[in-house]
Amino acid sequence: MTSKLLVMKILIINIKELVGIDESIRSFVSGADMGKLQTIKNAFLLIGKGIIMEYGSMESLFIPEDWANKGIKVIDATGKLVFPSFCDSHTHLLYAGSREIEYVDKIKGLSYEEIAKRGGGILNSAKRLHEASETELIGEALARLEEITWLGTGAVEIKSGYGLNTEDELKMLRVIRDLKRLSPLTIKATFLGAHAIPLEYRVKQDEYVDMVINEMIPQVAAEELADYIDVFCDKGFFTVEDTERILMSGIKHGLRPKIHANELNYSGGIQVGVKYGALSVDHLEYTGDAEIQALKNSDTMPTILPGAAFFLNMIHAPARKMIDAGLPLALASDFNPGSSPSGNMQLILSMGCIMYRMTPEEAINATTLNSAYAMGVSDELGSIAIGKKANVFITKPIPGIEYMPYSYGSNKVDTVILNGKVL
Ligand code: NIG
Ligand code: FE
Repeated sequence: MTSKLLVMKILIINIKELVGIDESIRSFVSGADMGKLQTIKNAFLLIGKGIIMEYGSMESLFIPEDWANKGIKVIDATGKLVFPSFCDSHTHLLYAGSREIEYVDKIKGLSYEEIAKRGGGILNSAKRLHEASETELIGEALARLEEITWLGTGAVEIKSGYGLNTEDELKMLRVIRDLKRLSPLTIKATFLGAHAIPLEYRVKQDEYVDMVINEMIPQVAAEELADYIDVFCDKGFFTVEDTERILMSGIKHGLRPKIHANELNYSGGIQVGVKYGALSVDHLEYTGDAEIQALKNSDTMPTILPGAAFFLNMIHAPARKMIDAGLPLALASDFNPGSSPSGNMQLILSMGCIMYRMTPEEAINATTLNSAYAMGVSDELGSIAIGKKANVFITKPIPGIEYMPYSYGSNKVDTVILNGKVL
């Protein structure tokens, strides 16, 4: 009988600093509030039934002498920090193979658009995805999920978009449905049929958009395969008009937009996203005053993908200007084979600080609470709050919060707890 009780609760004690506390359970933080990160030094955290039950300073903790018999597993975190797990609100981590040859072409000077025009890029991944079996796809994706789990990610959004025909888009979304069942991570699925225009539709783009609307969306909705709908609204890809048509149809079928916008130009993507109540608009390299104005007082989370900007050597979204204008910001990995072949959110945290001049506090809020909002899970994840799902990680012994982004490239995560269970 006791063995059943033994693993019921986890008590983490002597935490050097418990990071990302949010007593008021806010949906996200904006502007100057992004620079504020509530923490408790010398803290404890009690986890049970998969959720956060209590936390506070060690002085306020009463441990009964017979704690071991009370089914409490104690973890001593002396010298270590505890964080809410990262939420990665934008990935394409379901893909087949890799595209390092294009990466070399890019280094030699070809642009992302030029590669796409030659049938490389997303279309290259679509071809490989078509050839891969569901079992192969599940295996590859599970390995990536496992990798990001040990890097501190606790929730991840995964997009379709390498199918580009009805059958293969559904295949991708069914695989994501399987991943939700097989992985301890919290996963959200986004339908991205409008990711690229297949070669045979280049001269009749409208017909591809018709297919997305008339064939794909109804089937995705009928099988309840997606949580969100995405469109790559940018120069050389889908126009604002295409995007409007697709989003209207998606919304009719219960799919809230989360879109790719303003990566390659002032595409109007941000404005159209806000107009259709997008949960997030992502990339944002081309964000000017008009775009900032559109985002103000909206419910749309501006999301920057530093990995893609780094890997493609692009201009940077004006993060500082956006925060200083009072906007919230989220950061996500964009994990994909073409523009960001890494899902390492610790690296994204560092990039937020180094490339975008965000403070460590801002970047931590952007990779936890705000990115939780950007994938629709901030009521259950993204901060340390009583009742939230116990997805947290314990670091190795480190000097303090700033060390997380400072020490880029090395894994500072020691222990991972997901759904209240130590992995
Ligand atoms: O977010 N920008 C569009 N789509 C992806 C790239 C996907 C790919 O190249 O395979 C992105 O960067
Ligand atoms: Fe993307």
